[in-house]
Amino acid sequence: MSSPLRSIRGMRDLLPEETEVWSMVEDVVQETVRSFGYREIRFPIVEATGLFQRSVGDTTDIVEKEMYSLESRDGEALTLRPEGTAGCIRAAVQHGLAFNRISRLWYRGPMFRYERPQKGRYRQFEQTGVEAIGIASPALDAELIEINCAYLAKLGLQNSVTLRVNSLGSTETRAAYVAELRAHLEAHKAELDPDSLRRLERNPLRILDSKHVSTQQLVAEMPGLDQYLDSDSKRHFEQLLALLDAGQIEYKIDPHLVRGLDYYTHTVFEFETEALGAQGAVSAGGRYDGLVEALGGRPVPAAGFAIGMDRLVLLFQEVSASEIREPVKCVYCMAADPDCMSYLMGRVRQLRQELRGVKVVLDTAGGRMATQMRRADREGADWAVIAGEKERASDTLSLKPMRDLGEQQALTYDALVARIIG
Ligand code: HAM
Repeated sequence: MSSPLRSIRGMRDLLPEETEVWSMVEDVVQETVRSFGYREIRFPIVEATGLFQRSVGDTTDIVEKEMYSLESRDGEALTLRPEGTAGCIRAAVQHGLAFNRISRLWYRGPMFRYERPQKGRYRQFEQTGVEAIGIASPALDAELIEINCAYLAKLGLQNSVTLRVNSLGSTETRAAYVAELRAHLEAHKAELDPDSLRRLERNPLRILDSKHVSTQQLVAEMPGLDQYLDSDSKRHFEQLLALLDAGQIEYKIDPHLVRGLDYYTHTVFEFETEALGAQGAVSAGGRYDGLVEALGGRPVPAAGFAIGMDRLVLLFQEVSASEIREPVKCVYCMAADPDCMSYLMGRVRQLRQELRGVKVVLDTAGGRMATQMRRADREGADWAVIAGEKERASDTLSLKPMRDLGEQQALTYDALVARIIG
């Protein structure tokens, strides 16, 4: 026997028990974003590498270290998308959705990052993202946050996450802050951890994120980014906070929240949980007013966020899956005699049409009744429906409750449906 092949490290198979929870969570998220007026867009998993260099940023960890890049047969530099915003905006610009109109878009699908795999962090992971193009108002930032609050509440997770917000200001204020930050840290290079030292040249803003105590102390000595905001940025942020207050949405202002992608301006936010260990960010996003233009469109404001679906599902499983999941009713149908299969199949076809939302499983493997009953039990059936010679002759079906001690009973088709619907 040859050795079995295995999935690639950091890329998971999701087995039926998990996909059922996934579908439920996906339905809640998708229903929520649709109810806010967002419409689905689909774009390729593979894009030109330059797209991510220009949007996510050349000096970010994602572009420097984490992309799955390849050269196509004709020499084109391609990359498996590490995130969705770049492809979404590229598509919107290409198809005229990013000019002279407001576009509310959402997407879902796999993203790829070469990170060290651990619980909640994978090399192939799933995001559901939302991007709104053409609105400069902080009311949009508040709406994006509210969408998150809405699906989290429907999933019973509102008390399992905290919201952190910050403003990065305009591109200019950010540049001024970065220059001062770099100067301050240059003067204390010896106290910086190796990661931060590497970032000092290429992406000093990310040093604010460092978990290293000595680096954190150095950063704390400097005035926060909020002290550098120009008056427009300040007003935008204050208006957002006022809207959140009015909506009774709790948040924490975190001046060190900078995000790992270069395109952000003004508002950034993250919904975090403590229930998943180190990988706490469940959903994150912000405003990126310069990105449409950077990708060849007109200067149009935009903002969005992406949910890490793997983490949202994990959190749901840990916190509230057992309370919220509606058990699906299951009817398990079996032929007591192989000659009765065609009679049974006709009734099963009818049951599937009539019993909406009920799982109707036909035992096609057959065999002894005791064996089929065991399979019904393993399937989690609420009812067993049995067709034998007697039932066929009297045009009935036998119904046996599997979850309580009720008697098996021969019923007409209509009476059987009525009993199951209850
Ligand atoms: P991000 O913070 O890089 O932002 O990713 C968003 C979410 O994706 C994270 O909060 C996390 O839940 C999930 N995620 C990221 N990496 C992994 C991983 N390796 N394994 C599992 N989950 C992961 C973005 O991607 C931006 N495009 C969000 C955005 C949309 N900003 C504006 N519009």
